[in-house]
Amino acid sequence: MKHIQVGNTKFAVKTAGEKGYPLLLVHGFPLDHTVWQRQIDFFADHCRVIAPDLRGFGSSDITPGSVSMEQMADDLAGLLEAMGMQEKVIFCGLSMGGYVGWQFWKRHKHKVLAMIACDTRAVADSPEASAGRRKMAENVLKEGAGAASSVMMPRMFAPNTYQAKPDLVRQVQQMMERQKPEGIAAAALGLAAREDVREWLHTIDVPTLILVGEQDAISTMDEMRHIADAILDAVWVAVPDAGHLAILENPAVVNEAIAEFITL
Ligand code: MLT
Repeated sequence: MKHIQVGNTKFAVKTAGEKGYPLLLVHGFPLDHTVWQRQIDFFADHCRVIAPDLRGFGSSDITPGSVSMEQMADDLAGLLEAMGMQEKVIFCGLSMGGYVGWQFWKRHKHKVLAMIACDTRAVADSPEASAGRRKMAENVLKEGAGAASSVMMPRMFAPNTYQAKPDLVRQVQQMMERQKPEGIAAAALGLAAREDVREWLHTIDVPTLILVGEQDAISTMDEMRHIADAILDAVWVAVPDAGHLAILENPAVVNEAIAEFITL
């Protein structure tokens, strides 16, 4: 892991690989870069992989309060600059990482070669969902990270994954529970306030891969199909035997789809 200072915030970033396109892997909520381990291992032979911990997660610095998707997008742009990355990157975001990706496109499109959206959404939270996030932020600050994992864990995987892959389920639960309450709460408030981006998805004019677990309960196939339809140059892949964490539940299909998209 490298630790890189951007302004007054320190970010942790895992890098792997020395040749090929820069592939920026942006994790979901409330996770850290290790959720990408199967992609880091696979793509290190073909790409320059950059897998940061977002502000408030893993071993990156925390900013208490609320952290917006726009702030996280600007953090990534600053991080790439601090790393001396001159080239455009393939931006690959999982769920919250995808929300950050839409803002990265809006604010830093000159840095984007292609987009990969994994199990993510374009709509904003409903008032009820937003109130639920605010409640989660409050509970996490009082009770610890378990107050977030108990809400998130039941919706992360396809129903069968819970029985068939208990080690994987445990690994993700531990990942959630080691995140710092202040970081989780700040991101939850940022998620609650995030913008609906559907109106400007059509401005994305770089090759885009849309990946969704067939049994994703958070970002459904139907919703992701609409995202793919809105983007001119989008390739759509539905991942079997997988829910919201398709990147972990079926890494073989996900990695192959990404490899084919990048045409390794
Ligand atoms: C994620 O995986 O990042 C979260 O499910 C996003 C969300 O709760 O909207």
